[in-house]
Amino acid sequence: MSIYAQMPHELRRICSRWSEQIPKYHSQTDRIEYMQAELPALLSNKSIFSDIFHRIVAGKTYPDIRQTTMFVNEILLYMDPKRLFSLRVLPFDQREFTPIHDHNAWGVSGNITGILDIIKYRRDDDGSLDGYARICETEHLQLKPGDIDITLPLDAGLHKTGTLSTETAVMVSVYGNPIRRLYVNGFNLSKNQVYRIYAPRKRKRMLAENALKLL
Ligand SMILES: [Fe+2]
Repeated sequence: MSIYAQMPHELRRICSRWSEQIPKYHSQTDRIEYMQAELPALLSNKSIFSDIFHRIVAGKTYPDIRQTTMFVNEILLYMDPKRLFSLRVLPFDQREFTPIHDHNAWGVSGNITGILDIIKYRRDDDGSLDGYARICETEHLQLKPGDIDITLPLDAGLHKTGTLSTETAVMVSVYGNPIRRLYVNGFNLSKNQVYRIYAPRKRKRMLAENALKLL
C-alpha cells in the first residue's frame, strides 16, 4: 500500500490536483506562478498541519520522517508521481537556521506559524575557483503566517532560512523538478567557501566507499 494512503484526505486531494495541473504549465515561470496562487490557501489550513505534527509525534507511518532529505528538519509530505514537484514542511526551532545554500529546483515557500526569516545572497565570483565563493547579503525577509516567497535554482537563489525569534517557525515549501545533481551547495560567508551538502544517507555511502578503499 502506498504511504500516501495514510495522508490526510484533504492534503491528498490538494496534492493530486497539483499533480494534474502542473504538467499543463511548461515553463519554470508559469509553474512558479501557479504555486504562488495555490500555496496561500494551504498555509491557512492549520488543521492539516496540526494533523501532520500529531502523526509525527505519535510515530505514524505517514509522514515518513526516515525519508532521506538534505536538511535535518526537512520532512517530505508528497512527491509527485512524475517528480514534477514535491511538498515539504520544515519546522525551525528558536533561532535555528539552515546553512546558506542553493537549490536544484525552483521553489515556492511560505510560513504557517511564527516569523520565518529568509536571508538572500548574491554570488559575486564566477565559480571558476574550486571551493571558493564570494557572496554578499542582498535581502532579509520576515514572513508572517500566510506570507510566501519564491526561490530560483543554483546561484540565482542563494539563501538561508530559519527564525531569529524565540518561537518555532514552520516553513512549507513546494520545489519543482530538480536538475540531476546529488548535492546542494553550502556557502560560508566569512570564509569565502563553497562546499557540497549531501543527504545523510548519500554521505554515509560515500564515506563507506572511501573506507572500503583502505580496507
Ligand atoms: Fe532553501
